[in-house]
Amino acid sequence: MTDMSYIKHRSLVIPFRSIPFLIPVPVPVIITCPLVRERSKTFLLLVVGTRMFRFLAKTSRATRSIRFPWNSLGVEVAGGNSTNIGAHRAAVGRAKSTDSTSQRAIPESLAMYGENDYFKSLRCANEQLHEALASPTRFQSIYDREDRTDTSSPESTALRESYGKYITQYRGSFMMKNAYDLAIYSQLFNHVQPRTVIEIGSFTGASAMWFSDTAKLLGYDCIVYSIDIEHGLIDETIKTTKPQTVKFIQGDATKLKEVLYPSMLKPLPHPWLVVEDCHHSIATALTYLNQFMNTGDYLVIEDTSPYTLKTEQSGTNYIDKLNIVKEFLKGPVGRQYKVDSFFTDFYGYNCTWHWHGFLRKFDE
Ligand SMILES: C[S@@+](CC[C@H](N)C(=O)[O-])C[C@H]1O[C@@H](n2cnc3c(N)ncnc32)[C@H](O)[C@@H]1O
Repeated sequence: MTDMSYIKHRSLVIPFRSIPFLIPVPVPVIITCPLVRERSKTFLLLVVGTRMFRFLAKTSRATRSIRFPWNSLGVEVAGGNSTNIGAHRAAVGRAKSTDSTSQRAIPESLAMYGENDYFKSLRCANEQLHEALASPTRFQSIYDREDRTDTSSPESTALRESYGKYITQYRGSFMMKNAYDLAIYSQLFNHVQPRTVIEIGSFTGASAMWFSDTAKLLGYDCIVYSIDIEHGLIDETIKTTKPQTVKFIQGDATKLKEVLYPSMLKPLPHPWLVVEDCHHSIATALTYLNQFMNTGDYLVIEDTSPYTLKTEQSGTNYIDKLNIVKEFLKGPVGRQYKVDSFFTDFYGYNCTWHWHGFLRKFDE
């Protein structure tokens, strides 16, 4: 159906815009009559002045917009690119991020429209993102956090989400991730750009493929190492079609040293993303990997929400998992990790199956 409001709007606008172009029409009258000449001069000056003012204002707005960086985030960008935001950086201090975010200007085509709603929303989003990433309270000790979630009715939400989570497929294979966590991971890949992923718990291999594909879609190189005690679970199609960037390793997470030996780990490029998703020997495995991890590397400990307990068929005690993780984070190794509330609370406080689960490594 034709959008009549648009036509109406256009018909109002066009005659207005035409006014300056109609000005030359009464030129003979202006020349012959002194009174009309004086008044017309004033009118003409007013019209020309107004139009010039509008033109200059629009141009300067457009120029400002083009210069306005998409990422004036004050974060150190991987590859040495950085932007100074003074006060924010000072506030962030030791917690300053090494996140990598694309330097992107607001599209020129959009900026040319001036202060329209889309432009304003982009600027608003940019400011909000800037504040969230540079917030002095972004990185938190798990002990300063509360064991709660903003999710309303978390038990029934977990039950509802678990239905979708356990029938989620990627490339035709089952993958144990819910919608929030997939979205949060994709943000982590956008900002942190991990070059190495170490996943403990491959299951069908779909999550390893998703990690690899996500990095590839974002345009950077990343190798995914995925370990599982049970190699037979890996989907045959994934085994045969997987790219070189995905490496499945059969092994026991309780003896990680025998699977991922030091000479193999040391040369792997950073930042790393370590994903703990097998729920066994968490502290032992993470203490071993920690020796090879740098400041700015990320660790995601999955399924720490106590509300997922009743939804799991396996009988794994997820309340225990949260307490095991807390115990680990209290110790000398764990203290180097802070909860990154930017990711963990992306959709609300602990609105994830990984309560306090998105952690960043810091210098001691
Ligand atoms: C929850 S699933 C992993 C899900 C997968 N990461 C995903 O997102 O689709 C846990 C996996 O851990 C594996 N696992 C259990 N115990 C293990 C161990 N000791 N070492 C390595 N893997 C183990 C299981 O075989 C299972 O495939």
